[in-house]
Amino acid sequence: MKPGEKRKLVRVLNGEVVSPPPFWFMRQAGRYLPEYRKVRETAKNFLDFCYTPDLAVEVTLQPLRRLHADAAIMFSDILVIPDALGQDVAFKEGEGPVLQPVRSLEDLSVLNKDRLHEHLAPVYEILTRLRQEIPDETTLIGFAGAPWTIAIYMVEGRGGTECGRARTWAYEDPDGFGLLINLLVETISEYLIKQIEAGAEVIQLFDSWAGVLSETQFRRWVIEPNRQIVERVKAVYPDVPIIGFPRNAGVLYRDFVEQTGVDGVSFDHTMPLAWVKEHIQPLCAVQGNLDNHALIVGGQMLEDSVIKLLKMFSDGPFVFNLGHGILPSTPPENVERVAEIIRNWQP
Ligand code: CP3
Repeated sequence: MKPGEKRKLVRVLNGEVVSPPPFWFMRQAGRYLPEYRKVRETAKNFLDFCYTPDLAVEVTLQPLRRLHADAAIMFSDILVIPDALGQDVAFKEGEGPVLQPVRSLEDLSVLNKDRLHEHLAPVYEILTRLRQEIPDETTLIGFAGAPWTIAIYMVEGRGGTECGRARTWAYEDPDGFGLLINLLVETISEYLIKQIEAGAEVIQLFDSWAGVLSETQFRRWVIEPNRQIVERVKAVYPDVPIIGFPRNAGVLYRDFVEQTGVDGVSFDHTMPLAWVKEHIQPLCAVQGNLDNHALIVGGQMLEDSVIKLLKMFSDGPFVFNLGHGILPSTPPENVERVAEIIRNWQP
């Protein structure tokens, strides 16, 4: 790259049309890769794995070697935040995350951000090392969960389906629940600023559980906290693009984009392409939305789905991605094939 030249993903998030479009995949590092499973076996547990720079750097690099993606997303997890705030977090084999639930003001009072950056120092080291080790033209993505999604895990004690306890608390005692959300807004903003300091060039905010809320609650617990984080991070780093991901937000994607100030939005596989084309792409860069289950199945159907997306969005700012993360049963060859189609795409 020439001095001063911007990386592809950053250019698209600045509103440029780049053809073929840049691509990366949510969960591009993970259990679908045999080389990931091998490294994973050497770690004591999943959180330890996330906090060990040698291992986290290695598994971030693995998909780049196979896919030559335009971006590397640092290997970590959204639940390092509750862990760093002092909540008990564990990842159980075959079960996913299990947390000691926070359901009252008393539970909340135990959490604090006194040792936040000390605790998260390995994440910052991972980013700094990655920027030195990834190819020059590859963009380095940092990330965090958005407050509502992290709160779900903190309150439910596990991943939700209905997210009933968090939704009830938010209605019953919005001021109390709001304290948790405010703590998360502050913590996540500081965390992202440190990530950028350490080398992250783009940020993605994962609000994976945004879609379970009613309209009013969505505005309060998804749009507003995401807006506040964007404002705080941009006050320090105005030029670092931020991608929002209010998964399953439906038509509320538009208000999310207009009101949060994100530079790009990742849209899930349920979104009608023509609607996104008409209502979202004129506002910001769009990223998505191949169905992660199509990626498991492969074949002609997969190739057709990829081409359809490229045809639909390539004349505007577009980042090719999935609607949600790669699943463990995905054949790596299918992911490689998609990468190849995108790289060779000509409109
Ligand atoms: O390659 C990448 O995308 C970066 C790594 C990454 C992980 N988690 C690694 C991981 C990222 C960006 C995340 C984000 C994350 N974590 C989200 C938001 C995105 C989404 O998927 O909705 C959420 C909700 C979590 C919470 C989480 N972490 C769950 C629910 C689970 C268990 C489910 C599962 O897939 O096992 C995790 C564990 C986890 N995080 C794994 C990986 C690779 C698998 C654990 C393992 O290897 O043992």
